Amino acid sequence: SLTAWVNGRFLPLEEATVHIEDRGFQFADGVYEVIACFGGKFLELDAHLDRLEQSCEAINISLLKSRPELIELIHETYRRNPFDHAMIYIQATRGVAPRSHLLQQEIVPTLVITSRELPTPSANKLAMGASAITLPDIRWQRCDIKSIALLASVIGKQEAARKGVDEAFWLDNEGHILEGCATNCFAVIDGELVTHPLDHQVLGGITRHLTLKIARQHGITVTERPWKLDEPGLTECMMSSTTNAVIAVSHINDKTIGDGTAGPISSNLRQWMIDEFE
Ligand code: PDD
Repeated sequence: SLTAWVNGRFLPLEEATVHIEDRGFQFADGVYEVIACFGGKFLELDAHLDRLEQSCEAINISLLKSRPELIELIHETYRRNPFDHAMIYIQATRGVAPRSHLLQQEIVPTLVITSRELPTPSANKLAMGASAITLPDIRWQRCDIKSIALLASVIGKQEAARKGVDEAFWLDNEGHILEGCATNCFAVIDGELVTHPLDHQVLGGITRHLTLKIARQHGITVTERPWKLDEPGLTECMMSSTTNAVIAVSHINDKTIGDGTAGPISSNLRQWMIDEFE
């Protein structure tokens, strides 16, 4: 059976619970990370832990764990739940206290770590590309923080599922594509890889960074600027996340991108990334 790290110890998953007055439960007062692990090899572990530290700092939570301690806990969680393709989930909340927006006392943060199986996209999805809808961005103004307050993303995913597609992409007021509910988004426009710049409207995705790095290494020009779906010269779209690596998106709303299958640059980027993992 599965084992989780919760509040200082490993427990069977079914017994791994937190208190009803945890501020994560009452206020979504916490942050998280999702890290992929292939064949025991963690992808970009340091980058994920850097971002976890930044998220904690941004909302004033101090984790009380050193980097080596965190790494050891992650490894131990994986050793107890060793999937060939695993997804490590780390959640840190401010801790447990009687409900009050402003916390008056020092409390111990809650730290939860699980290792679950990471599903891979189907062969058909990889060949034909994923699908998405666009929605007006109803999220908060600090999407650069990896907050556990994900209600807007849950609504977006529900809307996507209702339309029978994989993801919902958030639009700013001018109609630029920012990112997805749980992915960063890219387009190929006039042969350049284009993605929204890093600001408060998008998460600095670890896979986004990797995608841009790999593109540059292969001589693809990368441009970080706001972009729209109806730009002339747009031939491909794709999305990136720890859970999907990078994957083509061939249908958005009623629009078919390129020839309606996974485009060549998207497919190459995915292959190059997977080669790098192995
Ligand atoms: N989501 N943008 C948003 C809003 C996200 O939630 C995520 C990740 C990303 C991609 O980031 P990365 O490449 O570092 O995984 C972009 C995780 C996987 C999730 O919520 O499950």
